[in-house]
Amino acid sequence: MLLAKSTWPEIETFLTRSTAVVIPIGSNEQHGPTGLLGTDWMCPEIIAHEAQASRDDLLVAPTFNIGMAQHHLGFPGTISLKPSTFIAAIGDWTRSLAGHGFTRLYFLNGHGGNVASIEAAFSEIYAAYSYGGQRAPVACKLKNWWDLAGVTALANRQFPSGHGTHATPSEIAVTQWAYPGAIKTAPYGPKIANTGPIREALDFRARYPDGRMGSDPAQATPEKGGDLVRMAAASLVSDVAAFAAEPKP
Ligand code: NI
Repeated sequence: MLLAKSTWPEIETFLTRSTAVVIPIGSNEQHGPTGLLGTDWMCPEIIAHEAQASRDDLLVAPTFNIGMAQHHLGFPGTISLKPSTFIAAIGDWTRSLAGHGFTRLYFLNGHGGNVASIEAAFSEIYAAYSYGGQRAPVACKLKNWWDLAGVTALANRQFPSGHGTHATPSEIAVTQWAYPGAIKTAPYGPKIANTGPIREALDFRARYPDGRMGSDPAQATPEKGGDLVRMAAASLVSDVAAFAAEPKP
């Protein structure tokens, strides 16, 4: 069930049977010479949409598609929020949904650079209740899509070398499966990109001239992407159900 394709009465009714919601969250940033700029928000969206198809007990919110990607700003098309802006926006999304009765917010993330800010946003949300001596009405959970049960093991079998950490063949395969009309090709040199630290945008572009980190995206295929999506979607359904059923102490 997609929130964006529901009406408010439908959401009001949904809240009588579940108070959990999945929020795909990612980033719009360069993904090397062949990866789509939307890769990091598309992957969690594709997986969440696959998981909710034909289910009326799994609600998926609109995708939070701009994240913390300051280090990619040296490449055209990247759009980034500062950590402080991102943290504030996550707080407003959470309070909006909590105000309607959602008590379990499951953020399915597609960008490693978001993790620190999302965790900080959760701490800011909880802190407001802690300082007031109140119980928080909402619990938040962060899960990277590649950390869903079975996904990294499958990716390791599919891509035993050259997976890397940015513009990876697994994330590009997922977008190839969902958007076969947008598959791109380009020569890669070197075949497997180098790795190193992440700092500011000019430093990043100097270290990683085509935008990749440690990866060989030429290994991506739509078929491998489809296998990853089906594995991730099945794991997401059970992980959200477990989160929704967590008892309150
Ligand atoms: Ni990515």
